[in-house]
Amino acid sequence: MSSIRNNKPVFEPFKIKCVEPIPITTIEERQKVLSRSYYNLFQVPSNKVTFDFLTDSGTSAMSTKQWSAMMMGDESYAGSDSFFRFEKAIQRITDIEHIIPTHQGRSAEALLCKAILKKGMAVLGNTQFDTTRANIESSGCESVDIPCAEAQNSQAEHPFKGNVDLPLLEKILKDRHKQVPLFIMTVTNNAAGGQPVSLENIVNTKKILQKYNIPLFIDAARFAENAYFIKMREPEYRTHSILEITKKIFSHADGVLMSAKKDTFANIGGFIALRDNSLSDKIKTLMVVTEGFPTYGGLSGRDLDAIAVGIHEIIDEEYLKYRIRSIEYFGKGLEKIGFKIVKPLGGHAVYIDALASFPLFEKHFYPAHALSIALYERIGIRGVEVGSVMLGRKNEQTGLEEYADKELLRLAVPRRVYTQSHIDFILEEANDIFCDLSKMPGYQITYQAKYLRHFTAKFAPVSRRI
Ligand code: F0G
Repeated sequence: MSSIRNNKPVFEPFKIKCVEPIPITTIEERQKVLSRSYYNLFQVPSNKVTFDFLTDSGTSAMSTKQWSAMMMGDESYAGSDSFFRFEKAIQRITDIEHIIPTHQGRSAEALLCKAILKKGMAVLGNTQFDTTRANIESSGCESVDIPCAEAQNSQAEHPFKGNVDLPLLEKILKDRHKQVPLFIMTVTNNAAGGQPVSLENIVNTKKILQKYNIPLFIDAARFAENAYFIKMREPEYRTHSILEITKKIFSHADGVLMSAKKDTFANIGGFIALRDNSLSDKIKTLMVVTEGFPTYGGLSGRDLDAIAVGIHEIIDEEYLKYRIRSIEYFGKGLEKIGFKIVKPLGGHAVYIDALASFPLFEKHFYPAHALSIALYERIGIRGVEVGSVMLGRKNEQTGLEEYADKELLRLAVPRRVYTQSHIDFILEEANDIFCDLSKMPGYQITYQAKYLRHFTAKFAPVSRRI
């Protein structure tokens, strides 16, 4: 009998063998830290963060099996045993021949962009993650996101809001297919709220791309969470195992990019998987200059082993059931308090819609950023803004700010790290301060870098007329 049944309380399907103390800070300390960090949570030291929901990337707890596999790490420069275990584990999930390790997801993106892109091209996708977009744009190309219409409305209930807008894809390709060297489908769609993509949408996207000979790449950072949603929400796959669904997803891919820092529980790592021999050769040649020899790709042998075990553990259905239900528990709790959250709840994070939650908060004062600062100051939670700071930009020609069409605060939950009592505590605290939040100050940007400005931007609080 299953240990975790629907409608029963969720419990963590693991025991804790090794613990790490949580930093406890006062509000006064946090206010000082904020001012020293120019109100940018990326600049806040982690020992001043009580609940770190900045990212689920590289922050997961590894299992006893992963830690013991690391002791078997073979640190040979070329042809290590660790590489062959890594290669085999990924081939088992993807059925793709060429497996190239990279030190993380963005280096896989950078290598692919270097190998394929030429100035003036356009890369399409459901919604590119910020590093993918930066890699495309810094190659002199355009990144064109074509998420389905439902993704635009944070309150719309739709089972697969990560999907691609297929009619729009057809239309764009009719006009511009010669400019398009590849399509990247991100599962789950992180930038659109951690929302899954259906297998039906993957199949249909592939059909359209095939007409123009455009390869389909999958950004597989959270492939297992996506596969679980397919099992739950796409009736045709209800009786399939997660492994079977995963294999089906990858069967439509010409290539895979993966940050192994998410759905393999590893603290570092990534890979590119390719079917095309010559593209694989090209990338293996390029990578020696920046990543390392193709059998280690910037990783130690022990990292390769941790990933090889983790990619097997992540497709455990009991784990995925707990993972998805615990995100739902967190999100529904916040919703009960009055926050408007992106619905339905996604795979790895709760996304608070700051504009919908605080409709009188003016967009030019960066509401999602303001909320991230207020929650850190009051509760010691660190989330990440996915709004105009991350997705907007300063137009270099006009000098004017271009705002994003959404103002979300993402609370990404590290895997197997926090327990339900942590979440219950946060919900209690959030409930106590919710009414005060409508009075939070706005922010202005006082410094910004050209690319990925959210990491290093400096901010100053500005009062709003309330
Ligand atoms: N693709 C997706 C969908 C991602 O979410 C990320 C990273 C990357 C690629 C890049 O991978 O960090 O290993 O270089 N996302 C993290 C996040 C940083 O917080 O969502 P990386």
